[in-house]
Amino acid sequence: MNAAIARARAQAALTDLRPQPDDIAADAIAGLSRAPKTLPSKYFYDAEGSRLFEAITRQPEYYLTRVELALMEAQMPSIAQAIGDGVHVVEFGSGSGRKTELLLEGLAAPVAYTPIEISRTALMDSVTRLGQNFPDVQMLPVCADFTRPVPLPRAERRAHRTLVFFPGSTLGNFSDDEAVRLLRSMRGTMGDAGCALIGIDLDKDPAIIEAAYNDAAGVTAAFTVNLLTRLNREIDSDFDTDGFRHRALYARDRMRIETSLVSERAQSVRIGDHAFDFAAGEAMHVEISQKYTDASFSALAAQAGLRVTHGWNDDGDSFGLRLLQPA
Ligand code: AVI
Repeated sequence: MNAAIARARAQAALTDLRPQPDDIAADAIAGLSRAPKTLPSKYFYDAEGSRLFEAITRQPEYYLTRVELALMEAQMPSIAQAIGDGVHVVEFGSGSGRKTELLLEGLAAPVAYTPIEISRTALMDSVTRLGQNFPDVQMLPVCADFTRPVPLPRAERRAHRTLVFFPGSTLGNFSDDEAVRLLRSMRGTMGDAGCALIGIDLDKDPAIIEAAYNDAAGVTAAFTVNLLTRLNREIDSDFDTDGFRHRALYARDRMRIETSLVSERAQSVRIGDHAFDFAAGEAMHVEISQKYTDASFSALAAQAGLRVTHGWNDDGDSFGLRLLQPA
């Protein structure tokens, strides 16, 4: 199908729930008023942050994307068999990438694909491209915040079940409470007969994990500091982007990477009328990347009324895909 037809079709099928735009200034002020200071990691992804994240996925130390893709390639027949045919695929976030293509290629006769995404541009780009490559899969994009329950558009052809797809270990960027809320919302979206396929990064040698978040080329450091550049551009703040340093440490007891921006010196930062003082060496928390064991992931899923029915790991047990169903 050509791009113009795919775009027109996707436009016609769009369900726009008009998600509330983020109040970045209010969130930044609230975060900097806490002890320890925090900034929400969801603000990493402006155009430059998204470009830098893509670059991270190509760094030799950042194994997550590479291993997950290879795992999907190797295990797709088994994954497709566990899921069954004629599903409505619902992706949390817009999946324009290779993982979504592998899923839609590998599943038996999927009837529809619904990405749920807050950015209308990213959403429409994703379904236009996928619509061209998968003319038999109905593209039903929904512009909405996937952290809240979203009513699904009905596919023209009746789906046997709904499959929620959430790859990349993105679940790990949410706190435990938020992750349980998100899994509950997936539980609501999939209904009693549905399932969810979730990518999770597994607990392993801390040196390997820390290297992935401290690549030698400094791309992850640039990605982290770009958060401050974005804030300076979009809200009235005056962060000195050379005055903060990226730090990513693996907290073994919590099994998570904790990323901070550490103040290089005593300094004051202004956001509008608010001033925030930083001590030399003070860490501002900007991201967590949770890692999982089978036990910790099953326990998290159970809190959301879900159970793990199938699992696939790469040969080195570095990264996993888990299939969940209502408990
Ligand atoms: C998107 N998310 C799963 C990435 C991760 O590994 O936590 C974001 C990232 N942050 C630094 N590097 C990659």
